[in-house]
Formats: sequence, C-alpha cells, structure tokens
Amino acid sequence: MTGRLQGLVALVTGGGSGIGRAVSIVFSREGAMVAIDDVSESGGRETMEMISKAGGKASFFKCDVTKHDQVKQMVQSVLDKYGKIDILHNNVGGWQREANDLVTTDTEQEWDRLINLNLRGTFLVSKEVIPHMIKNKGGSIINTITTNAYMNYPGFAAYGAAKGAVKELTREMCLDYAKYNIRVNGLVPGETITPQWTATMDLAMNPAIARDGLLKKIPQGRFAEPEDIALGALFLASPDSRYVNGHILFVDGGLTAGFY
Ligand SMILES: NC(=O)c1ccc[n+]([C@@H]2O[C@H](COP(=O)([O-])OP(=O)(O)OC[C@H]3O[C@@H](n4cnc5c(N)ncnc54)[C@H](O)[C@@H]3O)[C@@H](O)[C@H]2O)c1
Repeated sequence: MTGRLQGLVALVTGGGSGIGRAVSIVFSREGAMVAIDDVSESGGRETMEMISKAGGKASFFKCDVTKHDQVKQMVQSVLDKYGKIDILHNNVGGWQREANDLVTTDTEQEWDRLINLNLRGTFLVSKEVIPHMIKNKGGSIINTITTNAYMNYPGFAAYGAAKGAVKELTREMCLDYAKYNIRVNGLVPGETITPQWTATMDLAMNPAIARDGLLKKIPQGRFAEPEDIALGALFLASPDSRYVNGHILFVDGGLTAGFY
C-alpha cells in the first residue's frame, strides 16, 4: 500500500463482481474507505469481506442503481456512515450475453433495460452524489465506458448506444462541474476476464475459437485481468491525475489503436 487514497471515501457501484470488485480492493489497498454498492447482496458482502480480511475498511450498501428511490437512500447511508464521498466510480453496466441486441430483435423492454442499466444508473448516482461533492469542495468521478462506444460489435445495439451516451455525459459533466473542483473522466476497459465476460464467451458457438479470434485483435496479446482496469481507475481517482478532466482513458492493451 502506498496510501495514494489515504483518508478518502470512495463509492464503487457494482463492486460485488469483476472490475468493480478489483477497483474496490485496489482503492482500499491505497487507503480509501470503500462503500461498495451492488444489487447482489452475496457479491457485495463477499467483496467487503475480502477487503476486511486484508485489513482494509469497506461497507456494503445494497442498491439497484436504476431505481432513484434506492439510489437516494444508498447515497444517504454512505454519507451517514462516512460523512463524505470523495470518489465515485460509476462502474455498473452490462450487455446482452446472447449478442442478440439488434434494433429489429430488441423489445422495447429490453432496449429500456440496457439503456437504464448503462446510462440511467450513471445519471442517478451522479445526481445524488455531486451536490455533496460540491459542498465538500471537490471530488473525482469515473464513468465506465467500453470499446463498443468506439468500435461496436454486431449484436450490441442498445449497449453500444448507451455507452456512447455515457461517453458524452462524461464530457458534459466535466464542463458543468469543473468549477467546483470536481473532475469527471471516463474509463474504457478492454476485454476483461470477469464473470459477465466469461459467460458471454462461453455462449459462443465455439468458445475456444471465439476467444482465440478476439485475442488476435489485442496488440498486447492477452486479455485484461480486472486489476489491470482497476489500476487505470486508481490513476483517475488519485491526485496523480489532478489536472486530468474530461479525459477518456483506454485500458485495453491497444485493442482500439487500429486494425491488428
Ligand atoms: N468485462 C469486460 O470485458 C468489459 C469491457 C468493457 C466494459 N466493461 C464494463 O465494465 C463494467 C463492469 O463489468 P464487469 O464485466 O465487471 O461485470 P460483472 O457482471 O462481472 O459485474 C457487474 C456487477 O454489477 C452488479 N450490478 C448489475 N446491475 C446492477 C444494478 N442495477 N445496480 C447495482 N449493481 C448492479 C452485478 O451484480 C455485478 O456485481 C460494466 O459497466 C461493463 O459494461 C466490461
């Protein structure tokens, strides 16, 4: 631990699995008190226990980030517990595992589900946290985007559209809140081995061929571990990035650099 987040309070949404779990652990390792939000009680509590066992400080707050009443209550509970929120990582997001998210096949409900999960959740949690950051005279917000917002794959229409919107929301939030010493940056994870990602790969017609095909597109020649992404989030959360604002950080092993 080098204490780059010593004394800071971080709220990580979707901290019960994958990238959000790794971010929670890395932030805690650097001295932050971590508020873990997740809709999954078992996942959130597991992350909290992992942090406690390693000697860190974390609490779990169950909340579905697409529901405004739950978000209000969750943010208030975090403030009641810690008194402030210095860092917000809007990490919750998800796609349709079957890659059948097409304009012609998505029902209105499925379209709304994906837009809400990826865009509305980021809006709602930010809406509740930013006024407290303003009172607290600053903060750092990280919004999770995806490579799909830049070079989409067939079968991810609503997901790509929602994440493209999160990209623009990130830049807009930077413009609106920089004067309050709040930095808002985006994080683009590459192909990262998480439960959600593994479930998608396993649904491919031939999972081994699918993995191999994808791997060939990554200049660094390997998939990301969740901690690779968490280290990018750490940079954006910490004072090391104190003059970085409205930036989109690609942590993708070169995947989006060009044809490969
Ligand atoms: N894994 C990748 O390759 C990859 C690539 C690019 C972007 N991303 C993005 O990274 C983020 C994390 O993805 P992951 O692969 O770690 O996923 P994951 O499914 O492993 O973890 C997501 C967590 O969010 C929680 N969650 C889901 N819906 C929620 C809700 N409504 N409210 C609160 N919590 C909720 C889940 O319970 C889970 O614990 C997502 O925004 C995803 O779009 C992932």
